[in-house]
Amino acid sequence: MSTITLDGERVALQAARRRTFAIISHPDAGKTTLTEKFLLYAGAVAEAGAVKTREGGRRARSDWMALEQQRGISITSTVLQFAYRGHVVNLLDTPGHRDFSEDTYRVLAAADAAVMVLDVAKGIEAQTLKLFEVCRARRLPVITFLNKCDRPGRDPLELLDEIEAQIGLRPTPVTWPVGIPGDFRGVIDRRSGQFVRFARTTRGATAAEEQILDRAQASIEEGVAWHQASEEVALLQAVGADLELESFLQGETSPLFVGSALTNFGVRHLLDAVIDLAPPPAPRFDAAGVRRPLEAPFSGFVFKVQANMNPAHRDHVAFVRVCSGRFERGMTLTHASSGRPFSTKHAAGLFGSERDTIEEAYPGDIVGLVNASDVRIGDTLFEHGAVSFPAIPTFAPELFATTRAREADRYKQFRRGLSQLEREGVVQVLQDPEGDPTPTLAAVGQMQFEVFTYRMEHEFGAVVDLSPTPYTVARRTDVATARELRDRRGVKVLARHDNSLLALFESEYMLRRLESDHPEFCLDQLLFDSSTAR
Ligand code: G4P
Repeated sequence: MSTITLDGERVALQAARRRTFAIISHPDAGKTTLTEKFLLYAGAVAEAGAVKTREGGRRARSDWMALEQQRGISITSTVLQFAYRGHVVNLLDTPGHRDFSEDTYRVLAAADAAVMVLDVAKGIEAQTLKLFEVCRARRLPVITFLNKCDRPGRDPLELLDEIEAQIGLRPTPVTWPVGIPGDFRGVIDRRSGQFVRFARTTRGATAAEEQILDRAQASIEEGVAWHQASEEVALLQAVGADLELESFLQGETSPLFVGSALTNFGVRHLLDAVIDLAPPPAPRFDAAGVRRPLEAPFSGFVFKVQANMNPAHRDHVAFVRVCSGRFERGMTLTHASSGRPFSTKHAAGLFGSERDTIEEAYPGDIVGLVNASDVRIGDTLFEHGAVSFPAIPTFAPELFATTRAREADRYKQFRRGLSQLEREGVVQVLQDPEGDPTPTLAAVGQMQFEVFTYRMEHEFGAVVDLSPTPYTVARRTDVATARELRDRRGVKVLARHDNSLLALFESEYMLRRLESDHPEFCLDQLLFDSSTAR
């Protein structure tokens, strides 16, 4: 057998062990708590509470920007890698703050599955919905977790209907709660029919004790609570809400688990489902629509770029999702868009702010490449066998502001910061092709502007002023339509870094009127363009 085959086999085996996923949720649904409990169950932290600070109530490990610490939030995504049941789990952390940013969307481009966390008292909330739309566009398989079952909430049967009605995803409960809300005792595992009873541990700091009872025993010991849960389970069976692997992998149904991240009830079932149900990395489509085999030489794409993660080093880190082959630290790669060689001497696996140098990585893993100053979001890097993966879709901005350096003599710093933060995707930077040099910043969430302003001042030494604009909605357009729009009131055409044109409108109404009066105009919606979504 040749070495190439042996290497290929090794890559395939390693890829099969990987599960790369992200948690999507509305703020406060319990994502941070659940992340921490995953680490607890995987043995990556000895006791829960290590990740979440007691005083701040927020994760300390990923709070590496001063702004984050100031506001007690986690703005930027990090990657947590841990071993569980002989598998390697890559948990891509989407920022959980109230203000939305593009970063969150882009992280999903690097995931193979998502866990959607819902608060049992609230059901689907605004941000869950937005994030779910990205999952749908990418046909990501979604596992649902009904969290906070330890306290009074809504009727879970009613929530199943709501999930299906609101997002068109059919939930298929795998576990079902026993005990009324507020008196949550355990779950029926529908696969075995057994009752799993949980016992609380102090502060949920260690794994919940589990006791397994068969039906007869459960009926004797749990009485009414057991009978009610059994009836509900019979109902689920009657309507055919059963686990279906195929439709789950297609993003049509969602295995549903119930529990409480706080008390650890049901956390193990959920983590097991990530291993048993979520798919391992699969060959990715390249820009030409051809799937690159997992065993092909190393390739990956950048889904996030971050400068100055470590203020002491002033570095740029590109987060690369490995798509094929084996990554080995020190290998020289080619940067697909420039054709230039790229050294990987400084590669890091990332756990919040703590960086370990990594020696190797396989499909599904995330590698942090340091000194990646020429690399942009969406760029491909490969070893041999040239390849380019499709661009990560840019999302339709909803907020627009012009920006200027407050002090004229700081113009150079201003331009440098602007260009760097644009490259990192902190904000989109739009320019007037007609000549007005004042850049317009575009974002999906207000927080992006705050991060921009803060970093411009603290990292680049340029204090900036932002002025709001009246625009609220954007469409992609072409040169011919741009010419038609030029003299209209309430519309402005600006260019992005790649020279694509965006038409900004003061109101949705104005846009709709134009669309109906001029169906020949090119006004493409930007959001979740599934043909370009990975
Ligand atoms: P997020 O990352 O999605 O924003 O949510 P996070 O985990 O920070 O949880 C938000 C709040 O909900 C926290 O309370 C947390 O303790 C609580 N929580 C999470 N999971 C559960 C659960 O299963 N049951 C119950 N009852 N509560 C849960 P907090 O008071 O805001 O913060 P803290 O002081 O407890 O840290």
